[in-house]
Amino acid sequence: MNKSILEYETVDIDENDNSVIIIDQTKLPGRTEIIKLRTAQEIWDAIYLLKVRGAPAIGVSAAFGIYVLAKQILQNGAGNFEDFYGKFQQQKDFLNSARPTAVNLSWALNRMDGVCMKAHEEGKNVAEIVEILGREAKEIKDEDIRVCRAIGENGLSLVKPGDGILTHCNAGQLATCKYGTATAPIYLGQEKGYHFRVFADETRPLLQGARLTAYELHSAGVDVTLICDNMSAMVMKKGWVNAVFVGCDRVAANGDTANKIGTSVVAAVAKRYGIPFYVCAPFSTIDFDTPTGEDIYIEQRPAEEVTRMWYKEPMAPEGVKVFNPAFDVTDHELITAIVTEHGIARAPFEKSLAELRK
Ligand code: MRU
Repeated sequence: MNKSILEYETVDIDENDNSVIIIDQTKLPGRTEIIKLRTAQEIWDAIYLLKVRGAPAIGVSAAFGIYVLAKQILQNGAGNFEDFYGKFQQQKDFLNSARPTAVNLSWALNRMDGVCMKAHEEGKNVAEIVEILGREAKEIKDEDIRVCRAIGENGLSLVKPGDGILTHCNAGQLATCKYGTATAPIYLGQEKGYHFRVFADETRPLLQGARLTAYELHSAGVDVTLICDNMSAMVMKKGWVNAVFVGCDRVAANGDTANKIGTSVVAAVAKRYGIPFYVCAPFSTIDFDTPTGEDIYIEQRPAEEVTRMWYKEPMAPEGVKVFNPAFDVTDHELITAIVTEHGIARAPFEKSLAELRK
């Protein structure tokens, strides 16, 4: 029997042939292709091309990626720590340049860097340091699973059986290592027989909602209805939605939140109809060094993603100007609460997020 998509690991490591293993998400839902990433360029491309995507999954891939590369540096004869660390830094900077908005990328790489330095200061040799990096990367993955489960438990306290839930993009298992963030309350509710009715925005231009969220929820037996992005106002007006849950790529200290393009429209419409709008955020996605959403750098993507990528023929005139930001920022005023693994933060977010920080 075919394996369900939820039985696959979103990101994993093969220690024997020193590679990062991912599901190529650009092929879903049609084909489940597992690919191995061995070089810095392959890892960078996989992140940039969204073969692996979603802030937490990007972070875990980068952690495994820098570990794989550190092992290669060692195998190629690293020499002393200074040699090793110089090459490690180069690879780290390269991977970090793949996607700028998701803070989990730099968060995971900096965490690996910190572990490396600490081990060196403790007098460990390069081989021992590489071993420690491997343990840390696995811990980042295990932590992601625990964090998502905790977000699910906190998020579940905000809804009741039978509720309609709308979500945008994919903040599901495919964006993390298990449960997802925005989908965690849905999966946990399903374990308890809550029978949610979920609406998944298709999420133009890259269709993460259609290809990934609708796919994984449907595979899990969740009652999910796929809608085009321009239909969310209608389903909200009809009273079919009791809560919106979305993920995030970077949350500023004041609660302004960068997430997939189109999220802020959903938030504004939810406000119009008095529907609570919840952002599900692992603490690793909260960037206390970024004061407001104004300071978040927004990734711009190629025009072809809008004009032709998912069509048999181009669906726009050749040479037309295209604006294709990958993310937008939802103002904190539109956010009812930010659901973290440590608890639920409400306005004023500067204060509540800082209090939940451990
Ligand atoms: O461009 P993507 O597919 O990486 O964008 C993903 C999102 O915007 C998710 O909502 C976000 O990363 C949170 S995933 C738990």
